[in-house]
Amino acid sequence: MRIDIVTLFPEVALAPLSDSIIRRARAAAIVEVVGHQLRDWSEDKHRRVDDSPCGGGQGMLLKPEPLFAAVEELRRPETRVILMTPQGRPFKQAMARELAGQEHLLILCGHYEGVDHRVVETLVDEEVSIGDYVLTNGALAAAVVCDAVIRLLPGALGDERSPLDESFSDPRRLEAPAYTRPVEFRGLAVPEVLLSGHHGKIHAWKEENALARTRRNRPDLLE
Ligand code: ADE
Repeated sequence: MRIDIVTLFPEVALAPLSDSIIRRARAAAIVEVVGHQLRDWSEDKHRRVDDSPCGGGQGMLLKPEPLFAAVEELRRPETRVILMTPQGRPFKQAMARELAGQEHLLILCGHYEGVDHRVVETLVDEEVSIGDYVLTNGALAAAVVCDAVIRLLPGALGDERSPLDESFSDPRRLEAPAYTRPVEFRGLAVPEVLLSGHHGKIHAWKEENALARTRRNRPDLLE
C-alpha cells in the first residue's frame, strides 16, 4: 500500500507514523507513506495557498489551484482521494478496514476555515472527520487515519495478535476490562474468575463486563 499526505504540515502528519509498530511496518515496506508540502504546488511567488471566502465570512480557505495540481500529479487510476475535514463522514473501524483494502490513498488535509468546495466536488472521493471537535488542521487527523489503517495491514502487528478481537471489531461493544500481574496490588485484587482457568466462566464474565463498560462509556452504541 502507498499513502500520500498533502498538507501544510508534513512533519506533523509524519511524526506519529515514525515510531513503534507503524515505523516497523514502513521499514518492512508493508506500507510506503510520503508527506508532501502543499506550498510546493503554489504558483504564487509568496507560496500562498489560501484566500478569503467569496460572499464574505470568517477566516481563510485553501485555494483550489495548488490542491488540483497536487492531486493531478499524485493520483493514479486506483487512488482513493480523501479530504480530512470536521465536515466529513465519521471515521470508524469499518472505514479503517475498508481503506486497508486499497492500494493507494491520497489524503488531503484541510486548514484554516476549510477548502474551496470545487476541490470536494471534483477531486475528493470522501470527506472524513475523526470526531466532533475542530483541530487546527487536518495533519493530525490524517495521522490518526493512517495509524488505524496501517495496523490492519497483513504483517503490521508483529506479535501474532489479530486485530479482529478488539473493541470495534463488533462496533456495538467495547472490550472488556483486562488485568495483568500482580494478582494483588495495593489491596486491589484481580477478579477471581479470571484466575480460575474456567473458560466458560471467564467468557461470561468478559461478556457481562464488556456490556457494563459499554453502557457506562458509550450508551449510544447500544441504541
Ligand atoms: N480538521 C480539523 N478538525 C478535523 C477533524 N475533527 N477531523 C478531520 N479533519 C479535521
